Amino acid sequence: MKKNILVTGGAGYIGSHTLVELYNSGYKPIVVDNLSNSSLNNIKGAEQITKSKIDFYKLDCTDFEQMNKLFEEQKNIDAVIHFAAFKSVEESVIQPDKYFSNNIGSLEILINLMNSHNVNNIIFSSSCTVYGSPEFLPVNELAPFGKAESPYGETKQLCEKLIQKSEINSISLRYFNPVGSHPSSLIGDCSADKPNNLVPIICEVASGKRKSMQIFGNDYNTPDGTCVRDYIHVVDLAKAHVMAVNHILNNTKIKTAYNLGVGKGLSVLEVIDSFQKVNNLKISHALGPRRAGDVEKIYSDNTKINIELGWFPVMSFESALETAWNWEKLKNL
Ligand code: UFG
Repeated sequence: MKKNILVTGGAGYIGSHTLVELYNSGYKPIVVDNLSNSSLNNIKGAEQITKSKIDFYKLDCTDFEQMNKLFEEQKNIDAVIHFAAFKSVEESVIQPDKYFSNNIGSLEILINLMNSHNVNNIIFSSSCTVYGSPEFLPVNELAPFGKAESPYGETKQLCEKLIQKSEINSISLRYFNPVGSHPSSLIGDCSADKPNNLVPIICEVASGKRKSMQIFGNDYNTPDGTCVRDYIHVVDLAKAHVMAVNHILNNTKIKTAYNLGVGKGLSVLEVIDSFQKVNNLKISHALGPRRAGDVEKIYSDNTKINIELGWFPVMSFESALETAWNWEKLKNL
């Protein structure tokens, strides 16, 4: 019988890509999402790709009663992947309480319900932001949590600690910078938020939604002066979740965290340049001041997940930029 995986936030960007990979690997995903910053189209898209019906509950993870009903109805949940959370760094600075109550509150409810319904495995959607500005690069999982750059970052640190303290088996996946879309263009980033991440902004310049974009600082201590990040294709990221599920279901007493990045740093200018080449487009850009809270450079040491889960990134950065642009074009039709 197929194992049931409860996916909170499954109608979102990374969640919907993970539904497809779970299904393709023989799991039965069950989605809970309040659709506040995601889309039913992502569930429909995942159904089209997998040619299957996906169980969907339109629920808020902070609603204990409704979540309890879900756990009662779905008696055999084997593991939970918890994506549902607010994710705007910028908004979290303006409304920190909103981030603390939602991101931490929903996890507390989930752990509580998992305990009472005897569900013992959780994969948690974390972020490299937990490291703050790491002392050594590439950063590995032994690096301590750094000073949180934002309330959003602090919620990720607090959630990891909460999971660590619980009795539940857990894997925290620390994402670096997810980019791209499924090659079908049937699922993608549907956030209602105005984009403030680099590749979605480049796509908006490409589509004409924005006239131009700014590069936030070129006086960093990096080869071309602009910030360096580790960009990972969302399909590779989604596949890592399946490997994490395989691992947690086949082992007992797992409490760990993995970096999820390709292990290579790219500067802002290199990303813009590659996007222009791959998609044969000109992206109008100008140099601007530094953005508050930006880390100068961060990229991953992904050896731990290579060795322990056998996960390696296989998708190219070029295909991420191509599919990101394809998704943007379809979104605007
Ligand atoms: N950038 C620009 N211009 C823009 C947008 C971004 O120059 O218009 C630069 C940023 O300054 C940064 C790089 O592009 O140097 C990447 O910025 P993103 O906003 O795409 O990504 P971040 O690295 O800032 O943020 C990501 C995730 C967060 C997470 C953080 C941890 O989006 O969820 O990594 O470092 F918290």
